[in-house]
Amino acid sequence: MQISVFGCGYLGAVHAACMAHLGHEVVGIDVLPEQVALLGQGRAPFHEPGLPELLESSLATGRLSFSIDAASAASATVHFICVGTPQKKNEYAADLRYVRAAVTGLLPFLKPGDVVVGKSTVPVGTAEELAELVHEAQPEAELIWNPEFLREGFAVEDTLRPDRFVYGVADTDQGRAAAAVLDEVYARALGDGTPKIETDLATAQLVKVAANSFLATKISFINAMAELCEATGADVTQLADAIGHDARIGRRFLNAGLGFGGGCLPKDIRAFMARAGELGVDQALSFLREVDSINMRRRVRMVDLAREVCGGSIVGRKIAVLGAAFKPDSDDVRDSPALSVAAQMQLQGAYVTVSDPQAIDNAAKKWPDLVFAASVEDAVADAEVVLVATEWPEYVGLDPTALRSKVREPNVLDGRNCLDPVAWRAAGWTYRALGRR
Ligand code: UDX
Repeated sequence: MQISVFGCGYLGAVHAACMAHLGHEVVGIDVLPEQVALLGQGRAPFHEPGLPELLESSLATGRLSFSIDAASAASATVHFICVGTPQKKNEYAADLRYVRAAVTGLLPFLKPGDVVVGKSTVPVGTAEELAELVHEAQPEAELIWNPEFLREGFAVEDTLRPDRFVYGVADTDQGRAAAAVLDEVYARALGDGTPKIETDLATAQLVKVAANSFLATKISFINAMAELCEATGADVTQLADAIGHDARIGRRFLNAGLGFGGGCLPKDIRAFMARAGELGVDQALSFLREVDSINMRRRVRMVDLAREVCGGSIVGRKIAVLGAAFKPDSDDVRDSPALSVAAQMQLQGAYVTVSDPQAIDNAAKKWPDLVFAASVEDAVADAEVVLVATEWPEYVGLDPTALRSKVREPNVLDGRNCLDPVAWRAAGWTYRALGRR
């Protein structure tokens, strides 16, 4: 199939490379010339395991190219919309200007039989509006909403082998024909038995935000239990293990700690609340406000814990923060709990040094006043508190005995409940974590 992909960020770059890997002819289109230039050289503009290899092999076949010109989409039949929908400044709602610009830029090049496939996360109602634009420009082109569920760090795997497909399609002959075209694009995964749910546009848009709201709620649920554990001397990790054995609950996404961040969960639950308000059903989602509050409280609690460990004040105390990315295997610092806590501690007078295996450059752009160290050794040198804020394997695997000799005071805060308290205490550390004794 001839494919164009509008937007070459976390979603689009991976999607373009994966579609070319599957044998399609793909052009990735982005408005940022630097992004396009990097991708065209086979270099990923962000850290995503497997992406550089996939870019290199797909570019070598000649099936993958990148362009800043929307006209490059003219020869394609299937056009994926993969641009970002960030949170608006000072508002909960999503900023749809990039989605609208991408679709508007594509309209002059649409031909009869073309299929526009929306993958961006949008407020319900957006796809209907875009479908109208598509039909006005080219009555014989069709729009499908096909949300993406990929996780950063596993984006290549999630794109090549998704756990489900959702198509939001108009209940017309043209809609069904468009869905058949999309089936051809995804032929390999569909052939492998990946389930597909074909539905209307509204349901397809809601599926994505409902899924992310559920995941955010699950994380905030366990973090709320962590607050109870802190008040009672109970242990949230054992609690999660115990309730997680119930197959109806499940252990995944029950890791208590600094909570969720990143470019999706926080802004998606806020945009969902904003949309519910516009639709007059804000009560249905008022619980998400609490989910958001619980999540943000964890960051405050972590600063308090550092204060407790320092004997009442962090002013002038040396704190090493291990982790800046919002989660391991990513260099994404958007709404990162790790960075937010590091910045708060610095604003409150601590001397903070941050390290991260991948995210230092992005973190330094966002918080240029923080001090960054390339290695764990440099970050912890002379530290009075070490906070593990992102569970990178290299931090989880740290040897507490070896690290003990590098710091001034052996205090460790486990922001992700990812260290073994027994081993750290045995090595002489004071170990504290959220939701644990
Ligand atoms: C999420 C969804 O998982 C994905 O399906 C959607 O397409 C985009 O949003 P992502 O943002 O990549 O993906 O990260 P995810 O792995 O979901 O983690 C989100 C945040 O929750 C991270 O900050 C992570 O550290 C945190 N988290 C996750 C927890 O605090 N506890 C957990 O148990 C799981």
